[in-house]
Amino acid sequence: MQTIALYNLKGGVGKTTSAVNLAYLSAESKKNTVLWDWDPQAAASWYFHVEPGRQKAIRLLSKGQPIGSIEVNSPFPRLKVIPADLSLRKVDQELAELGSARRLIRKMVAPLGEDTAYLIYDCPPTLSPVIEYLLNGVDLVLVPMIPSPLSIRAMEQVEAFFDNKKQAPKRIVGFFTQVDLRRKLHVETLKSVRKFPFPVLKTWIPIDSAAEQMGLKRAPLTSYARSGRAAEAYIKLWREVNRVLKKPVDNT
Ligand SMILES: Nc1ncnc2c1ncn2[C@@H]1O[C@H](COP(=O)(O)OP(=O)(O)OP(=O)(O)O)[C@@H](O)[C@H]1O
Ligand SMILES: [Mg+2]
Repeated sequence: MQTIALYNLKGGVGKTTSAVNLAYLSAESKKNTVLWDWDPQAAASWYFHVEPGRQKAIRLLSKGQPIGSIEVNSPFPRLKVIPADLSLRKVDQELAELGSARRLIRKMVAPLGEDTAYLIYDCPPTLSPVIEYLLNGVDLVLVPMIPSPLSIRAMEQVEAFFDNKKQAPKRIVGFFTQVDLRRKLHVETLKSVRKFPFPVLKTWIPIDSAAEQMGLKRAPLTSYARSGRAAEAYIKLWREVNRVLKKPVDNT
């Protein structure tokens, strides 16, 4: 099983849009896929029409139940969702009381490995202790960024944070989202990837109103507008992500 976290300290950059589309593309390529929504806003759960009862997410998590008992079918074959709700805002407090969040999460995830090809986390824009544990355990941290100096700064902050830690994620890789080539700043930022403190994927996702309409359709863009610009870019991105996952980890 490969585990991928969509993460950025910055909000509104396309973490959920990307998590939902990549999870869909994974399932569509006949791989059993689980999307685990870690954001109390529960937007990814909402896109997949999966909304748990009140406070359910934290109750299930804090009991450290096997993951099979909390995953829920999505409207798409081979794609399951572990939904979030507002109770997750207390996750740090709950897991701290239980001791090692890391051990608990590992125990919950282990049974998935048998029949799941990809586990995808949609993370909130925070660097709380639980999110830190999560990022340390994944095969790939994928960081969506809108091309601007602030996105670079957010990444530098994440890099600096992990630089001082004994434990760090295996691979942190960025990619650009909501790219608008009519904007000089976007064009210049795309050209400056060498200055970034981490590798940046070649594929970028253009700004596209079809992506915004995901909120109206309540479905992954790639499931209803495959020939659109952003959908095509997500298809390319998923291929590139798989190439990255096959490469040995060099942690540069
Ligand atoms: N390629 C795109 N083109 C146009 N709009 C986009 C694109 N990708 C995402 N958006 C829009 O940008 C907004 C933020 O996207 P999204 O919710 O995926 O970000 P996020 O990083 O998950 O935000 P948060 O930090 O709040 O969880 C949404 O309204 C979404 O529809
Ligand atoms: Mg989000």
